[in-house]
Amino acid sequence: MPTIRLAGRDDAAAMASIYAPSVTGAVVSFEEIAPSADVMAERLAAVLERAPWLVCELDGALAGYAYASPHHTRPAYRWSVDVSVYVGAARQRRGVARALYTSLLALLRLQGFCAAHAGISLPNPASVALHERFGFEPVGVYRAVGFKHGAWHDVGWWQLPLRDRCGAPPPLLSLTEAARLPTWAAAMSLGLGELSG
Ligand SMILES: CC(C)(COP(=O)(O)OP(=O)(O)OC[C@H]1O[C@@H](n2cnc3c(N)ncnc32)[C@H](O)[C@@H]1OP(=O)(O)O)[C@@H](O)C(=O)NCCC(=O)NCCS
Repeated sequence: MPTIRLAGRDDAAAMASIYAPSVTGAVVSFEEIAPSADVMAERLAAVLERAPWLVCELDGALAGYAYASPHHTRPAYRWSVDVSVYVGAARQRRGVARALYTSLLALLRLQGFCAAHAGISLPNPASVALHERFGFEPVGVYRAVGFKHGAWHDVGWWQLPLRDRCGAPPPLLSLTEAARLPTWAAAMSLGLGELSG
């Protein structure tokens, strides 16, 4: 039975393996050394202090993960997040990213976040198509902003409004407060309908 749920410490090793090829064999990530499971667990704990970090299990194994992190640390940015998603190579093109983002964006809306952003090192047609499918619109490109694997790389930024941004936004709900809402479970499982095969 497929599941989408908040990630836990026990998922760190599987998430580190899913993420590693984006570090070592590609420029998807601008990191140069793939993080260990312990480092992944530390990142997970930091994210979960504020926003969801979800995993999707398929066929009894962890198929992918998605999370939201602060867009910037200065207080006026607190309603804005950056989102990321990684799916294991063997389980791509089965709707896992669609499923994770459907749930993640629903949960972020429940918490009161107002805008989601994605920084995509270019080219990455799969990621661009995924984000545009969700309504993210391009906002600009940082030209030659990172040097990795012997070359300079551009990073494009995409933005998705999550709520109206006129007037003062209500205070954000913490993850714990949002998880007590009666609509939390439905938002979490909303993405399951996106999984195919
Ligand atoms: C990008 C990625 C997350 C997509 O995951 P996935 O589970 O295979 O994607 P899904 O099956 O849910 O597809 C969702 C949409 O993404 C787009 N997409 C996914 N793979 C694609 C590909 N290879 N080429 C073109 N579009 C693609 C399509 O728009 C697709 O919608 P559709 O199914 O209606 O055609 C996955 O390829 C991946 O993990 N890549 C490496 C890490 C990465 O680039 N992460 C994004 C960092 S910014």
